[in-house]
Amino acid sequence: MNPPGEPPRLLLVGGGGGLVGRAVLAEFLPRWRVRSVHRAPVAGEAAAGVEPIHGDVGEVADWGPLLRGIDCVLTVAWYRWAREEQFVRLGAGLRRLIDAASAAGVRRFLHVSVPAAPPELERGLPYLRCKREVDAALAGSGLSYRILRPTLLFGRNDRLLGVMLRSMARYHLFPMFDAGEYHVSPLAAADLARALHRSAFDSLHGTVDLGGPVRYTYRELTDRMFAALGRPPRYLRMSRRTARRLAGTLVALGSTLIYPYEIDWLTSDLLGLAPYPGSDRPLERVEPYLEAEAGRLLRRRPEGQV
Ligand SMILES: NC(=O)c1ccc[n+]([C@@H]2O[C@H](COP(=O)([O-])OP(=O)(O)OC[C@H]3O[C@@H](n4cnc5c(N)ncnc54)[C@H](OP(=O)(O)O)[C@@H]3O)[C@@H](O)[C@H]2O)c1
Repeated sequence: MNPPGEPPRLLLVGGGGGLVGRAVLAEFLPRWRVRSVHRAPVAGEAAAGVEPIHGDVGEVADWGPLLRGIDCVLTVAWYRWAREEQFVRLGAGLRRLIDAASAAGVRRFLHVSVPAAPPELERGLPYLRCKREVDAALAGSGLSYRILRPTLLFGRNDRLLGVMLRSMARYHLFPMFDAGEYHVSPLAAADLARALHRSAFDSLHGTVDLGGPVRYTYRELTDRMFAALGRPPRYLRMSRRTARRLAGTLVALGSTLIYPYEIDWLTSDLLGLAPYPGSDRPLERVEPYLEAEAGRLLRRRPEGQV
């Protein structure tokens, strides 16, 4: 444990380069000292006073030295899409971290996971199966822990709503799976980071699901996105089955717009989570973010193109 008066120390596993990691650094710095483990260098981390440790979480054999002096561990490392062996390796690395944190007597362990998915995905998809192995290892570790399971997140340079907006701006048309009647309740990455910061100090145990302030149907959300771009909504309607096939083809061509499992998850109507009740300020609505992103896209457009 650090001497009294010293800032608390965070081990950020997955680093400050991703959507959640960036929001975590913005929330925790400068009150915390942060040691940050990830693979690719992140511009600005060192300048912000972060201690970067370059490495693959799946390949760290001994977490002991990285845990020295650490008060709280926070894990954000995961892949949206990867081969099964990559999920297995990363999951094993995170479970070794949990064992080492337990042995080192780390005061608090926070882990960002994902909300419930349809049972066939939970059982069969390495993305989820390996994630649940990590969740279960933490729950059984004896550590003081909190697992936060946000729904769809948004924030500057995100790879979901931001990429969807860019596609709408470019093609003026967007795929709609069935009638779009399933729900989403987008949460700001900044609100998740704030919840994580509170969780670093409280002693609440277990798992919490976090939704944003408003529950939309998917179609209402995409209509709002077209409106932010100043365009009437236009959809290419398709069944879920066709959508899955199309997503599979796009992935094979190198697209990261949407993956087949995300279509199953989205249309299962499990992602419209209730608003996170633990916030000490109103949760951010998605509309100002959409307006700002759309404004950026429209300003970037060559003259004459609408
Ligand atoms: N985005 C969402 O809508 C959403 C919703 C619910 C839950 N989540 C969860 O939130 C967490 C963070 O998601 P995100 O959207 O911020 O993802 P992200 O932008 O892809 O960031 C993930 C970070 O993990 C690091 N990472 C990945 N594999 C690694 C490895 N093997 N070793 C070390 N670092 C590794 C990456 O850094 P390097 O590439 O530098 O290694 C990256 O910065 C994930 O657990 C995700 O499942 C996200």
